[in-house]
Amino acid sequence: MAVDLLLGLQWGDEGKGKIVDVLTSKYDIIARFQGGPNAGHTLEFDGIKHVLRTIPSGIFHEKSTNIIGNGVVIDPVVFVKELEGLEQFKIDYKSKLIISRKAHVILPTHRLLDAASEASKGKAKIGSTLKGIGPTYMDKTGRNGIRIGDLELSDWKEKYRALANKHEAMISFYNVDVQYDLADLEAEFFAAVETLKELTFIDSEEYIYQAHKSGKSILAEGAQGSLLDIDFGTYPFVTSSNTTAAGACTGLGVAPNKIGDVYGIFKAYTTRVGSGPFPTELFDKVGEDMARIGHEFGAVTGRARRCGWLDLVALRYACQVNGVTKLMMMKGDVLSGFKTLKIATSYKYKGEEITHLPYNIEPENVTPVYTEFSGWKEDLTKMTEASQLPKELNDYIDFLEKELEIPIEVVSVGPDRKQTIFK
Ligand code: GDP
Ligand code: IMO
Ligand code: MG
Repeated sequence: MAVDLLLGLQWGDEGKGKIVDVLTSKYDIIARFQGGPNAGHTLEFDGIKHVLRTIPSGIFHEKSTNIIGNGVVIDPVVFVKELEGLEQFKIDYKSKLIISRKAHVILPTHRLLDAASEASKGKAKIGSTLKGIGPTYMDKTGRNGIRIGDLELSDWKEKYRALANKHEAMISFYNVDVQYDLADLEAEFFAAVETLKELTFIDSEEYIYQAHKSGKSILAEGAQGSLLDIDFGTYPFVTSSNTTAAGACTGLGVAPNKIGDVYGIFKAYTTRVGSGPFPTELFDKVGEDMARIGHEFGAVTGRARRCGWLDLVALRYACQVNGVTKLMMMKGDVLSGFKTLKIATSYKYKGEEITHLPYNIEPENVTPVYTEFSGWKEDLTKMTEASQLPKELNDYIDFLEKELEIPIEVVSVGPDRKQTIFK
């Protein structure tokens, strides 16, 4: 069986956690391939809401194996809190959660460096989640990082000390006010590492190779979204990993010819949290309504998400870069009652109308050109069949399918597992 991928096509928070949970019953293995605790993946079922950060969203299914791949960065402190959160639901994570030895470790000083770097940027800050993601990937590519496999070696604390000392020197270089007590942070960190070491560490590329060979079905779970990709996103307002399909190959050690379906997830509108350009952003009551009805607050930081119309130019780009084969549209229910809906179908750019995403999408460079649609009034949240969907919503979906030349196979009509319509 091929390895299928599921990834976000916008600026994150598309609803990846919900859909991975819904799809898990069809897969033996769920594998996270990049990002770290900057992610917040929400799942809802039986009236309970769960937010996962580093742990794959298949963890609540009894039979699934969940792998944290080499492309992920793990903060032991956050991770152990996540494990504690699972305990009350009697999830046997020791038997079904395994970690790549090649995944990198987020140190307390990585978090401090993130804060110092952001503070030094002033107004130009990225709006990072401050989880130490950027500094940890910098140490990875700088070939200084500490990996999960190192934690099994007797001298890892010496390597840790040398790296933490270097980080402290770097923090003082930034010359900004970052208060911390490293002794406290380290006590928490070392204790968390001991708990982490109770889990099974694996050579995940070999594990996945053998699993694939023996016919197991595998779903790779992305974090963040395509427009936050380090190469293809709205740089520098991006995260520090490849969030697009290629990231699954490097973040799990899966060869490209083993990839099957690429599921692309998008919201029926657009949101973004943190800084950076957002051509279709709304600053009026319509945007406020989207935020309020859609509960658009970050699952990790609680920050308000910026809201705007669906951007087909950006969506087309994300589908291209990822080779999306099937689409899933989330949160259509949030748009119920909006009289008119808009989709940006092209941009005005340097006096021309273009349909591809240019190098620079800052507001002074692009102006979205909109196509308008009639909204639907019906409450979608209790609908269970495609035949119940209102005509206006079907027109909206038909338009997108025609423009993108990719079928929309899932329409999500609420946060719960059950509020999912397969077309
Ligand atoms: P992720 O990071 O892609 O997993 O997405 P988040 O969990 O950060 O954000 C998505 C939010 O939307 C969560 O609060 C979900 O519970 C919620 N959600 C997911 N799908 C739907 C949907 O179809 N309708 C509504 N109203 N909420 C949804
Ligand atoms: P999920 O997986 C939305 C954003 C941050 C910031 C930028 C860089 O839940 O969709 P970082 O902490 O990586 O240095 O932040 O990326 N960001 C996300 N936005 N969803 C996420 O993850 C995000 N992870 C990072 O807000 O703008
Ligand atoms: Mg999220």
